[in-house]
Amino acid sequence: MQRTHTCGELTEKNIGEVVTLCGWVYTRRDHGGLIFVDLWDKTGLTQVVLNPQIDKLAHQEAQSLRGNFVIAVQGKVRARPEDMVNLKLKTGAIEVYIDELEILNPSSTPPFSCWENQEVGEALRLKHRYLDLRSSELQRNLELRYKITRTVRDVLHQKGFIEIETPILTKSTPEGARDYLVPSRLNPKKFYALPQSPQLFKQTLMVSGMDRYFQITKCFRDEDLRQDRQPEFTQIDMEMSFVDEDQLFSLAEEMIATTYKETLGIEVETPFPVLKYKDSMNRFGTDKPDLRFGLEIVDVGEVVRGAGFKVFTQALDAGGQVKAINVKGSAESLSRKALDDLTEVAKTYGAKGMAWIKIQENGLQSPIIKFFDKEMLDRLIETVNGEPGDIIVFSADTPAIVADSLANVRLALARLLKLIDEKKIKLAWVTEFPLVEYDAEEKRYVAMHHPFTSPMEEDLDKLQSTPSEVRARAYDLVLNGNEIGGGSIRIHSKEIQERMFKMLGIDKEEAELKFGFLLDALQYGAPPHGGIAFGLDRIVMILAGASSIRDVIAFPKTQKATCLMTQAPSEIDPKQMNELKLKYDLR
Ligand code: AMO
Ligand code: AMP
Repeated sequence: MQRTHTCGELTEKNIGEVVTLCGWVYTRRDHGGLIFVDLWDKTGLTQVVLNPQIDKLAHQEAQSLRGNFVIAVQGKVRARPEDMVNLKLKTGAIEVYIDELEILNPSSTPPFSCWENQEVGEALRLKHRYLDLRSSELQRNLELRYKITRTVRDVLHQKGFIEIETPILTKSTPEGARDYLVPSRLNPKKFYALPQSPQLFKQTLMVSGMDRYFQITKCFRDEDLRQDRQPEFTQIDMEMSFVDEDQLFSLAEEMIATTYKETLGIEVETPFPVLKYKDSMNRFGTDKPDLRFGLEIVDVGEVVRGAGFKVFTQALDAGGQVKAINVKGSAESLSRKALDDLTEVAKTYGAKGMAWIKIQENGLQSPIIKFFDKEMLDRLIETVNGEPGDIIVFSADTPAIVADSLANVRLALARLLKLIDEKKIKLAWVTEFPLVEYDAEEKRYVAMHHPFTSPMEEDLDKLQSTPSEVRARAYDLVLNGNEIGGGSIRIHSKEIQERMFKMLGIDKEEAELKFGFLLDALQYGAPPHGGIAFGLDRIVMILAGASSIRDVIAFPKTQKATCLMTQAPSEIDPKQMNELKLKYDLR
């Protein structure tokens, strides 16, 4: 039997036609002689009917059908009796009366029903991912993922980009995570690294005159996993020659806007606002602010300096900060319990507490106002623009802890007070990141983005003297509080690249060993160039409204970086160990 139609396409227009459908048994119902089967494939469901008076053999065979059997059926499309029309189904006006049935493959009883939204543990679903992927939610997510990559390819093609593949067996590129390593059989004691990104290849391609490169490619990072992180994930990776930030931003904006339009039919406003790193940290405590709601952070350090409240004065005396959020109109809705919960959030991020002041019609209420005189309190309330009905929360500590704790209190408040409009799409560029940050553990500066990022021209003279004050020509794209992309204008001068390595404590020998090929390439006519990489999984997750990137990846890994379906990673054969000249040393 040759399939003539899918299970989602028959309508009243097909009444009278003889059709052949193939698919999975979704349900089977016996109704006094008649057997009804809902037949499923990814396009939908069709009700087929087996009537012993039409075909005895087929009806008999249908009695053995169970859920998930794969069958082929042939029969005539008929209108359903009027009271049986199902408006929820695309095919709900018709049914197919079967005169031939073939069981293509029976099925064991699956460990869970893949079609109904059952409460099934994720481990079981991942073990039988092929069943899980039959659910309409995952089908929809993978479809959306495909639509997004197709749109991206179209846009970039139109803009003169070509897709070029770069190696997977390669040399370590520092993107800040640990490498996945692959031993080389032909070169004992030597290892390939799986790419954390195609960074150095794409820069090298610019030296080759490729002008506009892109690639939708896997990247591998052995880092701690979270809801928005996988050990292997996919980047939409791009690089362009002779560009500045403005040109790159408008191209990326067009790509994102077209993706929204083509996949969800949503218009997003371009250009996206640009926020300097410093302002983002000051106003939101983070470099990936969720701009769908307010609750901005206000520095009150200068106002409360000299107050009798030790927590504040000690933080300030130690070079720290005191900052506040005015939670407008929430004095009543934030209960004591809610304030305690928020304090716990602040503590999770290193704060020692979270002081608060309620502004009421008849005055202030707070455990800490006794430490302030009236004039200081008035100025404090004025600084945060306080009015009756507001509640002010405070964090006092080092700048890093104040930022981290208030950024997370801000998010928790937005969730608690339901301030997030899920329909809003807030995109923003964050720019002028610091070039480096000091790593106290390693006792050296490390690149905040990566070591190939260009310093800002006007800060170049500080590269050796005060590296932490140098700003980078780096940028991130933030969508509703998620970092969905990051990139930079690169260093294209060999001399500056060498100065950068030196500042990062990478001596000549190490630079030669690790990045010799890049330094070589830079001396043979490297054009000014820059690029960006987008996290495809994160973009799909947000557009799909999913809560984890695992829900938009066909075969994702667990938090422990394992694949429950294939049982990877797994032990290897002693013979393979011998070939690779490897030995365990399990201490
Ligand atoms: P970066 O390291 O910022 O930049 O990565 C770019 C984007 O990739 C996504 N991403 C991840 N997604 C899922 N799981 C992960 N473990 C993961 N890590 C990163 C993020 C991030 O914004 N070579 C540079 C790009 C450049 O400079 O052009 C790079 O890789 O959305
Ligand atoms: P205490 O004097 O420890 O009882 O604290 C008084 C109030 O200040 C409580 O509401 C604490 O949660 C709060 N608090 C304590 N440490 C800090 C801090 N580092 N920043 C902001 N508030 C704090």
